[in-house]
Amino acid sequence: MTKLQNDRFLRALMRQPVDVTPVWMMRQAGRYLPEYRATRAKAGSFMDLCRNAELACEVTIQPLERFPLDAAILFSDILTIPDAMGLGLTFNTGHGPQFERPVRSAADVKNLPIPDPEGELQYVMNAVRTIRKELDGRVPLIGFSGSPWTLATYMVEGGGTKEYGHIKGMMFDQPETLHQLLDKLAQSVTTYLNGQIAAGAQAVQIFDTWGGVLTPRDYQEFSLRYMQQIIDGLTREADGHTVPIILFTKGGGRWLDKMASTGADCLGVDWTIDLSDARKLAGDKVALQGNMDPCILYSNPERIREEVASVLASYGKGEGHVFNLGHGIHPTIDPENVAAFIEAVHELSAPYHNSQA
Ligand code: CP3
Repeated sequence: MTKLQNDRFLRALMRQPVDVTPVWMMRQAGRYLPEYRATRAKAGSFMDLCRNAELACEVTIQPLERFPLDAAILFSDILTIPDAMGLGLTFNTGHGPQFERPVRSAADVKNLPIPDPEGELQYVMNAVRTIRKELDGRVPLIGFSGSPWTLATYMVEGGGTKEYGHIKGMMFDQPETLHQLLDKLAQSVTTYLNGQIAAGAQAVQIFDTWGGVLTPRDYQEFSLRYMQQIIDGLTREADGHTVPIILFTKGGGRWLDKMASTGADCLGVDWTIDLSDARKLAGDKVALQGNMDPCILYSNPERIREEVASVLASYGKGEGHVFNLGHGIHPTIDPENVAAFIEAVHELSAPYHNSQA
């Protein structure tokens, strides 16, 4: 394998010294870029874009051509697993994702298969292999999956939700059924992420987008426990390098201490907690990734620079910070402001590191 030309992202995840703070953005390939919209139109639908390794590779690289980002993230979606389980996924403009056959009963759960990464999901593995080859060591490639709780939320609701009526109804009324679903998802996510690692992913992130809507106790029982099961089953080394694991629970600032005990190398943090407090809670066991409010990117380069300075100061000196937004970038953000953001992180972070790194 080609040697990495820029490994500061992997080094920061392992809390090793770096020259400047590495930065990438959740959803960095997407609709805020006109070149993404053009490729997406060429592909037809969003899922057609995910299924075409060459086009998925093209959109993965697009943000790297514009900005000096320190990592690439596989272009795909967390809903590829429920799609491969046969739930009938469609993305309808204005409605977000929808499933034709939601999971509502013990019988529905029993009938779900565990997808084979080199079978129904081979298109994702092919995208990973194509992107690794095309990156040729420029920056590391991140693989990802949804958390069991977050995938179950979409599968039981049949799409997005504001109320969580079906999923929480199942949690309180048929907890055993939900546990069986979560266990099946944990097994599926483990083989899926190990497939991505075998195909060339150099770090993996678990997106627990909806973990923050739970009580602290339910979070441990229905979300964290299954992420722990995944972490325990993941391949930790590939090509002689550690494969770091990033755990991101949106709204998870309250229980970072619990998350830090899972064996994850890094915790993703949203903007509802200061990094200085997050660092105290996580207790120097893990690196932290985050946590600028993505809406700052609606302001102007000067205001963005101020906010970057404040996030850097909040983390403070020492290794183990990967700069990111607290959640995905919004489709209506101006790419010029993104350029100012990335430049500010690299420029303003140098004093936080020893220059000999
Ligand atoms: O970060 C990246 O650049 C990698 C690509 C990525 C996408 N989705 C591409 C995408 C990643 C990591 C995801 C994860 C994902 N997908 C999550 C977790 C995100 C988080 O930050 O917590 C969730 C909840 C989903 C499910 C999903 N997929 C939703 C709610 C939507 C939006 C629907 C809409 O119309 O707004 C998608 C579609 C999607 N996934 C798009 C992209 C670029 C937009 C599709 C398009 O081009 O129309």
